[in-house]
Amino acid sequence: MYVNSRRVRKYQFVHIFATCFVLCFMFFWVEIDNPSFVHYMKSLSYKYLINSYAFVNDNLTTSRCNRVARHRYLINHEEKCQGQDVLLLIFVKTSPENYHRRDAIRQTWGNEDYVHHYLNANIKILFVLGQSRNFSLRSQMQMRLEKEDERHGDLIQQDFLDTFYNLTYKLLLQFSWANKFCPHAKFVMSADDDIFIHMPNLIAYLRKLAQIGAQDVWVGHVHRAAPPMRNKKSKYYVSYKMYPWPVYPDYTAGAAYVLSRDVVAKVYGASQTLNSSFYIDDVFMGFCANKVGIVPQNHPFFSGGGKAPYHPCIYDKMITSHGHVEDLQYFWQQITDLKMKNISSGVWGSIYCRIVNIMLLCRLYNHDTYLCSAAFS
Ligand SMILES: *[C@@H]1O[C@H](CO)[C@@H](O)[C@H](O)[C@H]1NC(C)=O
Ligand SMILES: *[C@@H]1O[C@H](CO)[C@@H](O)[C@H](O)[C@H]1NC(C)=O
Ligand SMILES: *[C@@H]1O[C@H](CO)[C@@H](O)[C@H](O)[C@H]1NC(C)=O
Ligand SMILES: *[C@@H]1O[C@H](CO)[C@@H](O)[C@H](O)[C@H]1NC(C)=O
Ligand SMILES: *[C@@H]1O[C@H](CO)[C@@H](O)[C@H](O)[C@H]1NC(C)=O
Repeated sequence: MYVNSRRVRKYQFVHIFATCFVLCFMFFWVEIDNPSFVHYMKSLSYKYLINSYAFVNDNLTTSRCNRVARHRYLINHEEKCQGQDVLLLIFVKTSPENYHRRDAIRQTWGNEDYVHHYLNANIKILFVLGQSRNFSLRSQMQMRLEKEDERHGDLIQQDFLDTFYNLTYKLLLQFSWANKFCPHAKFVMSADDDIFIHMPNLIAYLRKLAQIGAQDVWVGHVHRAAPPMRNKKSKYYVSYKMYPWPVYPDYTAGAAYVLSRDVVAKVYGASQTLNSSFYIDDVFMGFCANKVGIVPQNHPFFSGGGKAPYHPCIYDKMITSHGHVEDLQYFWQQITDLKMKNISSGVWGSIYCRIVNIMLLCRLYNHDTYLCSAAFS
């Protein structure tokens, strides 16, 4: 285990005490047959103990270059970005059968024309997918996708099967597409198809970053020193053979994160040298970034898993919220409603919203949307 003495001094004895407490706890509780509890305890203790991930990459690098699987485009739009100044390119990871979700996104936050007219920003949205995993439906589904693409012109598809265990291929598709066809976009975002993005807030935030010429930007909901899931029943199970170390390098939740243009290029380079058989795509992204020395920055209003609470004081600052399928329209209406805009302005408004946000976010069983600390940011 790697203990960095400088950090220990910085965090002082409170954290050492907390860590000892947690470790003692673990010794007694490891016997208990509750893998998720053990996992949780591990992640708590590693957060303060493990501070360097240099050991990870040597062993994940493949000896020969270009071991990355090559896939063919079935649907593509090479011209999407050409000859334009693009502030933000958004990849939405979707699956062939999720056309309802794509439509909902096109009608709400993913409406390029709305963003152009009301926010005066040039964004591009592309839905990224593979082939239907259902063999008997595949050709029918493919025809449907082609029709959908004729209408909207916003799908890119390659010929890998669209399954959970192929998510890393989807990630590689995004990086190679951005690098090849849209290297001039200032920012690139990767998001799930059940995400809600507060476009006005996101655009304002990115404009600020662009203004100061920010580089090495990789921002989202950061998972720090997360241990691999060793419980075989979990969807995220990773064997010791596949990944022998106790923690992953820090990474941002795959639900939604943003990269600056320079990071996209660097990470793409790194992704070409790593073994892409590791199938958890956001963790894989962490391997790539770690290899080129990029560290993720946490933004308190990027959601890790759950939905943001419905409240104007939350909408005031939120960037992303996860797990929306049915209520996307409702959320979008709420935030585009101009009356909402001034709720936190003035002294009383800001005090009111501070109190509301503390009450909403600092509950004991607040599940993984925004941390309590977001209420104080
Ligand atoms: C990592 O690589 C080094 C040398 O390349 C090797 O000696 C070591 O056994 C590897 N560790 C694992 C866990 O594969
Ligand atoms: C494929 O689709 C058919 C028709 O909808 C369905 O009956 C079948 O269960 C599906 N197969 C799989 C593996 O999902
Ligand atoms: C991933 O896609 C490839 C290429 O289509 C396919 O051969 C493979 O079975 C898929 N893997 C999984 C786990 O679905
Ligand atoms: C990638 O890793 C898998 C399993 O972890 C291994 O079977 C495969 O040989 C590796 N590929 C390369 C090119 O190293
Ligand atoms: C409310 O916000 C709008 C736009 O941000 C601004 O023009 C207006 O002056 C604000 N109204 C009040 C009462 O603060």
